[in-house]
Amino acid sequence: MQDTFGRTIDYLRLSITDRCNLRCRYCMPEEGVDSVGHGGILSYEELLRIAAAAVRLGVRKIRVTGGEPLVRKGVVEFIAALAALPGQPEIVLTTNGLLLAELAAPLKAAGLARINVSLDTLRPERFVEITRRSGLERVLAGIAAAEGAELAPMKINMVPLKGVNADEIVDFARLTREHPWEVRFIEFMPVSTGLDYSADERFPAEAILSELARLGELLPIPRRGPAGPARLFRYADGLGRIGVIPAVSQHFCGDCNRLRITADGRIRPCLLSSDEIDIREALRLGVDGTELEGLLRAAAVAKPKGHRLGEADYREGERGMERIGG
Ligand code: GTP
Ligand code: 5AD
Ligand code: SF4
Repeated sequence: MQDTFGRTIDYLRLSITDRCNLRCRYCMPEEGVDSVGHGGILSYEELLRIAAAAVRLGVRKIRVTGGEPLVRKGVVEFIAALAALPGQPEIVLTTNGLLLAELAAPLKAAGLARINVSLDTLRPERFVEITRRSGLERVLAGIAAAEGAELAPMKINMVPLKGVNADEIVDFARLTREHPWEVRFIEFMPVSTGLDYSADERFPAEAILSELARLGELLPIPRRGPAGPARLFRYADGLGRIGVIPAVSQHFCGDCNRLRITADGRIRPCLLSSDEIDIREALRLGVDGTELEGLLRAAAVAKPKGHRLGEADYREGERGMERIGG
């Protein structure tokens, strides 16, 4: 499927729940969010119909996100059903890792190809400060289980914030010397209002790169085609790779290949733009497969050329990451 600007849309992100077992300060308020509840969330059956329509339109990769996708009951069976869709799209998942120790092997057996794990600190006390919950040990056990289950190559996502965890960039980068992992440093995106962070905590990609240079020379890895949001590097003696995701400062919208489905059933053509198309209502009114394809095509047509984050009049939206899925 092509959008208005000639970009090929072959990647769908499905947020299957807005619930989460952590409360990361930069993502959710301390008290959590009002979950949209059972009826508001798309059923697995509805999600599968959307995914099947997207695959018919040329989607090759489906990323399952949340909230925290692994807290939704039946997720393993859902992954198996996605992987078995005609056309056999590649199924991947982004998780905070808390439930991965138990679920890595069943997920692999269900047909999951790879995972991205969000982890913002390697220090137990800091983990509690950032996520407002304990669990670093469990996340590390989850990463080990994912390696054991050959959910590879593994990507670790870290969002550095000044005065919070940016001093750990070098420790995270060092992980790529010993492990064949891709450790990605993500520029914080001010997506939703009412969160516990200040503008002074932003840590731009340029600052990330100078921290990384303290560990050794960063060798750029050339990109092959539209390769996702990360700029990739490696250290000469490293087993793994470093990614820097300059989401705000040098956006990669020109290569964007994705549509999103929010947990409450909207097609969101761009992470950072609030225009959405209601697909839940359409499903519940009984649309057929061709009409679903029509809605997805309409979302591709509505996909903006680029985001306006960082521009003077940009306003943060009401909808938080936990419902969009990152
Ligand atoms: P792969 O390339 O398949 O590994 O996926 P990914 O890196 O897009 O997925 P992941 O869920 O790990 O997201 C990593 C970071 O990139 C998160 O902070 C996302 O919010 C951000 N991101 C993903 N897609 C977009 C996008 O289209 N625009 C922007 N600005 N950020 C994105
Ligand atoms: N800016 C950048 N990344 C974010 N994530 C969540 N909220 C933000 C934000 N405001 C990241 C999580 C997760 C991924 C899906 O998105 O850390 O790894
Ligand atoms: Fe949960 Fe992910 Fe948000 Fe953290 S960033 S609160 S793990 S949804």
